[in-house]
Amino acid sequence: MNILLLGGGGREHALAWKLAQSPSLTKLWASPGNPGIADHAELIALDLKNHKSVVDFCIAHGIDLVVVGPEAPLVDGIADSLRSGGIAVFGPSRAAAQLEGSKGFTKELCSAANIPTAAYERYNDRDLAKAGLTDFGLPVVVKADGLAAGKGVTVATTMAEAEAALDAIFAEQGASVVIEDFLEGEEVSLFALSDGATVCAFGTAQDHKRIGEGDTGPNTGGMGAYSPATVLTPDLEARAMAEIVQPTVEAMRNAGMPFVGVLYAGLMLTAEGPKLIEYNVRFGDPETQVLMPRFTGDLASLFLSVATGKLDPISAQSFNTSVSMAVVLAAAGYPGAYTSGDVISGVSSADAIGKTFLAGVEQKDDEIFASGGRVLAVTGSGADIIIAQANAYAALKEISFSNGQFRNDIGWREVKRMRL
Ligand code: AMP
Ligand code: GLY
Repeated sequence: MNILLLGGGGREHALAWKLAQSPSLTKLWASPGNPGIADHAELIALDLKNHKSVVDFCIAHGIDLVVVGPEAPLVDGIADSLRSGGIAVFGPSRAAAQLEGSKGFTKELCSAANIPTAAYERYNDRDLAKAGLTDFGLPVVVKADGLAAGKGVTVATTMAEAEAALDAIFAEQGASVVIEDFLEGEEVSLFALSDGATVCAFGTAQDHKRIGEGDTGPNTGGMGAYSPATVLTPDLEARAMAEIVQPTVEAMRNAGMPFVGVLYAGLMLTAEGPKLIEYNVRFGDPETQVLMPRFTGDLASLFLSVATGKLDPISAQSFNTSVSMAVVLAAAGYPGAYTSGDVISGVSSADAIGKTFLAGVEQKDDEIFASGGRVLAVTGSGADIIIAQANAYAALKEISFSNGQFRNDIGWREVKRMRL
């Protein structure tokens, strides 16, 4: 089959690398892609905002399946346009993408379907929101309602901080906010595939969202990850599927907006059990860079089965028993203003030990240059987290990039658990 992959980050590099290993793949295209994805796909510059041009490309090139990496085109309805044009899509409709695009939508769905999540209130007015703050204890969590790439969330430890967060959110016209209880526990990510009706788990991971070691400093898109995350035991995973993910897919189906694609549940493992923090309607970055090295099945045919309502849960369970860990190499200054243009070398030496997935880079002649905040991620694998961690850092050492930064403690929770 011919596949078009949309996106150009490290997540898409990992997907392209695994799709290219699929026996059922004939040809892979990617847009916009990146220099790493170019090893596996023919890159094509499409205007993803011009849906008709994407549909026309798919028809002209016999594309059997479109795999959408990032959330923005999904929230923008690209899957709807492609399906109307008769093209199968791995990724939800605009309506189903509200699970990520609107925190208020998701909270209301949880409340209607009795899905465990933090108690909340939703406000469209600054003064009412400020008055509503008094219903919550401290810390309290304040979230802007729209897509905010993880940056629209404030965990406030004082009322003044919570009020300042509300002021910042309501500085925008037409803003809406969710205020919710702070959940205590360890965070973990659970991935699930859904063809709209059938749903099954598709691996676990733990991300490291803060820029600084020991999980300090500002939030980022993710500075590293590992998979599997054993803190989500088989029992807890079964509970999360039964109490959170399955009822969500069922509620979406009953509401006439079936969820098709990968549902990424950000969970808090509280004393009362798993609770939903948030949904994403696509794979995680850098979680995909640790899931894909562990997947042993035919990814192209699995994604096609999801897109065409024929998901067979058995074919989603093809993971090996090894542990993978990824360290993100980011540009100095990230997540604030960052430097770019520095030459990166040593990728092939790193790939003799682990696997490099490129993200914010550009290629000129035979050299690659940093062009984004998160530049690349290096994944190491092994029989346990300690070996995976050693391999990831050994591989990373081979990469030379003068203005880079990375965390030295990726995987620390799992290492600590293993040493207990
Ligand atoms: P979100 O964009 O909803 O994933 O939130 C970003 C981060 O804020 C999460 O990964 C958590 O670390 C934290 N967070 C969000 N909601 C809560 C909550 N109710 N309790 C504790 N931490 C939260
Ligand atoms: N690593 C977090 C995310 O992909 O949203």
